[in-house]
Amino acid sequence: MKDCPAVPVLQRSAARIPHLRDLFDSDPARGHELRATGAGITLDYSKQRVDTGVLQALAQLAEQAGLSEERERLFAGEVVNRTENRAAWHTALRTPTALQTTEQQCVEEQLQRMTLLVDRIQSGVWRGFSGKRITDVVNLGVGGSDLGPLMVTHGLREYSEPAVRGLKVHFASTIDGSQLFDLLDHLNPETSLFIISSKSFTTIDTLSNADTVRSWLGSHCVDEALMLRCHFIGVSAAQQKMSDWGLPSDNQLHFWQWVGGRFSLWSAIGLPIALALGMSVFRRLLAGAHAMDEHFRTAPVLQNLPVMLALLGIWNVNFLDIRAHAILPYDGRLKYFPSYLEQLEMESNGKSVGQDGELLDYSTCPVLWGEIGANAQHAFYQLLHQGTQSVASDFIVAARRYEALDHYAHQEQLLAQHQLNIANCLAQSRVLAFGDAAVAPDDNPWRRYPGNQPSSTLLLEQLGPESLGALIAAYEHKVFTQAVIWNINPFDQWGVELGKQVALQLQPLLQDPDAAAVAGLDASTRELALSIQQQQSG
Ligand code: F6P
Repeated sequence: MKDCPAVPVLQRSAARIPHLRDLFDSDPARGHELRATGAGITLDYSKQRVDTGVLQALAQLAEQAGLSEERERLFAGEVVNRTENRAAWHTALRTPTALQTTEQQCVEEQLQRMTLLVDRIQSGVWRGFSGKRITDVVNLGVGGSDLGPLMVTHGLREYSEPAVRGLKVHFASTIDGSQLFDLLDHLNPETSLFIISSKSFTTIDTLSNADTVRSWLGSHCVDEALMLRCHFIGVSAAQQKMSDWGLPSDNQLHFWQWVGGRFSLWSAIGLPIALALGMSVFRRLLAGAHAMDEHFRTAPVLQNLPVMLALLGIWNVNFLDIRAHAILPYDGRLKYFPSYLEQLEMESNGKSVGQDGELLDYSTCPVLWGEIGANAQHAFYQLLHQGTQSVASDFIVAARRYEALDHYAHQEQLLAQHQLNIANCLAQSRVLAFGDAAVAPDDNPWRRYPGNQPSSTLLLEQLGPESLGALIAAYEHKVFTQAVIWNINPFDQWGVELGKQVALQLQPLLQDPDAAAVAGLDASTRELALSIQQQQSG
């Protein structure tokens, strides 16, 4: 990025960009003009601190950084994950069957296998060890093998096919076993099925949950082969490891090394989505993502929704020095969307070494967090409005909701609640931008609102399988675009490895009652370990 001629232009622009109030005063048309629409989603970025000059320079930055060429490589399945020498071909997972190249046909084959499995479970052909039909499915996975399926399953519950509504799908990810403990407390071992979702099939969090379940089931079913065949499915890119764990090959679904963990919900990792909502809903999700892929591939920069999300992020981080980014969906169904994006963005772009191995001298991914917007109003919005931090925000809202509920006695109240929700969403972005000038300013200094906090609003006509697929894909492409400009690899995550190794070293020390075992540790960890040992033995 630093050698791009657009950078000094942007630096000079940042020094002169006026308050959002003045930007709107001098250009009343910006609310209408500063928009990008793709795959049915509209991005309103008029409340970002940009003007025409900044936008032109940002568009140049994207081209100077080589976005078009790298995007071609991404879609062609070339090696773009250079530190791991792999493609990152999640777009192939949602290419419609009719358009798949020979290399992509493995995708349709796995989808067919997934369909058969889903049919057998949903129709009751698949039975537990005692012959009863499956009532509950638990996904055991973490990170990309949990967050995407959890987020989509929760987000689209209203769309589940009538035939699948009897099946309950749960998620357990935490290494401490607490989610699993809650579930095992009320699940029936005869009617519960567990999906072990792990790209690597080495993740200790997931495997320790799987081992606990295996022991729980083993205490109810003495025939281990029968128990494994009737109660476990594995989803992984590591076939042999699934077999080594004991999973019969008919109980395995595969995907490929070229699918990154946090980009994997479109693969067989989406099995919980298909089980909870139906295969047709899963296919619609893929179709929505594909529509966004096409938009990203073809739309000009300033009308390209994911590219604009990326460029505005870069403008805020690298030129306006705004290092925090809030994700604020005004929709209870998107409860898990912020945590999904936390992994997608921060695990991808939380990097400080460039593709060439050199330490970067500019910022990359901001701290990103979020919450359902209307709830966050009663939690952290105080800081957004009157704190000392600049924070950029993404508001996400659907125009239509509850229209289909015409048989429901309380539809009118729910429609009114939806309007109230939208009013809150618009009110907040307005106050963030314009401060108390949005109404009459108060003389009391504690009641002043300075405004000038930038935000974008993503407007969906309604939240459904296609629009959610498109929304997720938009953020994936945002992440990719930013990585190209920052010259980092968004598809590896070396930064999570060392902690795993150190935990493996510490685990036996914690169990060793001999205090000398922890002697070599740093003073803080040693004292903590000793206190824990004392408390555990006392
Ligand atoms: O530890 C980070 C990570 O590797 C993520 O990138 C990944 O999504 C998660 O762990 C789970 O990995 P796996 O699917 O291999 O179990």
